[in-house]
Amino acid sequence: MAGRDQIVLHLEEAAGNWVSCESLGDKLGVSRSTIVRHISRLKEDGYAIESAPNKGYALRETFDLLVPRRIRQGLETKAFGKKEIVYCTEIDSTNLKAKDLAANGAPEGAIVISEKQTEGRGRKAREWFSPPRDGIYLSLILRPNIAPRHAPRITLLTAVSVAETLRSLIGLELAIKWPNDILVNGKKLAGILTEMSSEKGAIDYVVVGLGLNVNTPIFPDDIKDTATSLLIETGKRFSRAELVRDYLKWHERYYEIFLSMGFEPIRKRWKELAEIIGQQVTVAAIDREYQGEVQDIDEDGALILQDKAGQVHRITFGDVSLLR
Ligand code: BTN
Repeated sequence: MAGRDQIVLHLEEAAGNWVSCESLGDKLGVSRSTIVRHISRLKEDGYAIESAPNKGYALRETFDLLVPRRIRQGLETKAFGKKEIVYCTEIDSTNLKAKDLAANGAPEGAIVISEKQTEGRGRKAREWFSPPRDGIYLSLILRPNIAPRHAPRITLLTAVSVAETLRSLIGLELAIKWPNDILVNGKKLAGILTEMSSEKGAIDYVVVGLGLNVNTPIFPDDIKDTATSLLIETGKRFSRAELVRDYLKWHERYYEIFLSMGFEPIRKRWKELAEIIGQQVTVAAIDREYQGEVQDIDEDGALILQDKAGQVHRITFGDVSLLR
């Protein structure tokens, strides 16, 4: 774990009390000057760390940091978030880190969570805006015993879990856009990036990355018309730790349903939440654009669309826009 991450964990643990530079140095096994350098970087990054001669450092405003201790307080899951939580103040991408851990044997249910991402990634190699301490940037490791071609089912399962979290905790009117966007008032609130590794026809691991805009006050110009946050939609700030706990609970619940009863209950709930069936849409797929009416989502989560000529298409990857 990076030095600055350990410092934040120690200061947060001290609950606003002073922690001396020496004791931090001892805990991390590094010199005083290294601690001073980390602290100055953290201050630059907006952590409200107070310094006093002879006393050391104290974290004044603990925001709502996503440290493991806070996530685990009242976490109602069996495995998700119970075993391993890797906490970072800053990382390139939680998905990259989770893939690395998964490839090295991390168990199902392990999560990587970061306060900020410098290279947060979305579908189609897009960037995911990941400012410090405003959103949730979380990757969950799964090891489902399913065929690799069924991995997209995990994406739909995740979208349902996120939607249930937001509906139950906040009562938000939202829509799932195929395959994996969570929209409020037509703007994107959350996205899911599922990445898989398989060997000899079997899944080794699936990493499910969730980006959820929680307390983000403002977005850069290029996405300000298409992105939104819970703060922007409701005018209120929300506890990210509570949202993470609830999301892990819903996700585990639906994952268990999926493993024991198959995909059908998930598909049914997805269709209720997405309200896309019967809509006229345009789908920008990899090779071409389709226009027509959505007829169904099939058992692999693919979109079934009938075009004006009556031809039926099965689309596995693309961006949907509703035709009004
Ligand atoms: C999309 O809608 O295009 C998917 C966005 C997924 C973003 C999340 S944030 C946590 C995880 N780490 C990443 O680099 N991406 C996902």
